[in-house]
Amino acid sequence: MKGAVNKALAKADKVVTATAAKNTAAENSAAKSSATENNVVIMPAQLQDVPDLLRIDQLCFPYDAMSKRSFKRFIQHDQGDFVVIRRALPAQSEQTAQSEQTAQSKETAQSAKDSQSEQTSHNPILGYAILLFRQATRLCRLYSFAVDPELQGLGYGKQLMQYCIERGKEEHCLFLRTETKADNNQGLQFFDQFGFVHLGLREDYYDDHSDAIVLQKQLHFFDSANVPHLVPHLTQTTPFTCGPTSLIMALAWFGKPVYSPPHEELEIWREATTIYMTSGHGGCGPHGLARAALRRGLKAELWVSKPGPVLLDSVRSESKREVMSRVQEADINALQQAGVAIHNLDYSLAQLDDDLNANKLIIALISTYQFDSSKAPHWVLITAMDDEYVYINDPDDDLLPWQTITERQYLPIPRTIFEKAFAYGSSRLRAAVVLSNEPE
Ligand SMILES: CC(C)(COP(=O)(O)OP(=O)(O)OC[C@H]1O[C@@H](n2cnc3c(N)ncnc32)[C@H](O)[C@@H]1OP(=O)(O)O)[C@@H](O)C(=O)NCCC(=O)NCCS
Repeated sequence: MKGAVNKALAKADKVVTATAAKNTAAENSAAKSSATENNVVIMPAQLQDVPDLLRIDQLCFPYDAMSKRSFKRFIQHDQGDFVVIRRALPAQSEQTAQSEQTAQSKETAQSAKDSQSEQTSHNPILGYAILLFRQATRLCRLYSFAVDPELQGLGYGKQLMQYCIERGKEEHCLFLRTETKADNNQGLQFFDQFGFVHLGLREDYYDDHSDAIVLQKQLHFFDSANVPHLVPHLTQTTPFTCGPTSLIMALAWFGKPVYSPPHEELEIWREATTIYMTSGHGGCGPHGLARAALRRGLKAELWVSKPGPVLLDSVRSESKREVMSRVQEADINALQQAGVAIHNLDYSLAQLDDDLNANKLIIALISTYQFDSSKAPHWVLITAMDDEYVYINDPDDDLLPWQTITERQYLPIPRTIFEKAFAYGSSRLRAAVVLSNEPE
């Protein structure tokens, strides 16, 4: 039994190191070819491209072709990025080189425009991509993507995909998602090369009633290059033990792995539960979790935006609230006697940054509303932060609709979204248990 946690944790550790690799081989080779050959241009689609687009689309997707009207709408309504790839005319290559070297003057801009219209009038398109950005979910959707069948296998698809990936990153999207026909082996092989993972099957998706496979590529990963020891990941085994599972991950990182995680998960829950909560078994409270951490040799500090017992708002029954209050009062008394600091203030991201820099880990209460509209309370372990993202080890196995199993360790959450998610209930309760190793 002893090896169980270490084995599970070591496996997770390895997974993240692998996923944190920067680019796939396909991305690298595409980047190399577009940088060195510079033989194509990728530019916004224009109305005069519609006949070419219709031809390519009908040849590539006879089972689900787009209409002329749809193409026009995408071009005219600026709904995302609709780009076409063409061979660069000699004039265009020179233009590009010139504008890269010198600041772009008004005349240069005008002549680039002229050159663009020249490209359009004499130069057929090789392929196209339609990218849609959804800011709320940080998803970037590849709505359609095709290369002229006569010109496939020549590297144009790779260059177009590289462009799409870069655009997704520029827009701070976390994921690039698309669908393709389940029997489109060529397409699936292409997406595999770029590191897309299969998320699931959508039955009866296309006009001809065939199925689609949903594919997704994560665009941003935690840069683990300078981190000697990643916080290992563990998945909770019950719906109500996110808090204990977060604590077990922290214990392992602080060099105090537990003997049997599935048993310890419930043991910690028995110690830290609020007994009741919204429905079913009560989850854990911040005070109980801090107390459980102390018992296991960690130092704890608490930031709870409201004094006294918490998480009572959604409990209608007076008698249940009374029990919840009593159990938390006992935890608060015990923490006070142990000299644990309890700050009844909002835990800020600046404080979070300080604590992470001081080698602390933070168990934080979030509301899942930002992710799945369900408003459930959920404990996660904050493991890192940078200028744009807060990284969490998410103990749940299906919290976010777009996640795969390897994406729950150092999962990047944009800071703006985290700020909103890091508060629970109508009273916007902010609770964080800051953990560190006891000084020797
Ligand atoms: C998928 C598609 C966009 C790839 O574009 P492309 O220009 O042919 O691709 P590239 O030449 O850049 O090749 C990139 C990789 O795709 C794969 N690929 C391309 N053509 C292939 C073929 N005929 N058979 C198997 N794999 C192929 C290869 O893995 C290739 O990598 P390699 O050159 O290292 O062997 C293109 O084939 C296409 O438009 N297909 C029809 C529409 C479609 O399926 N769109 C995607 C789903 S919406």
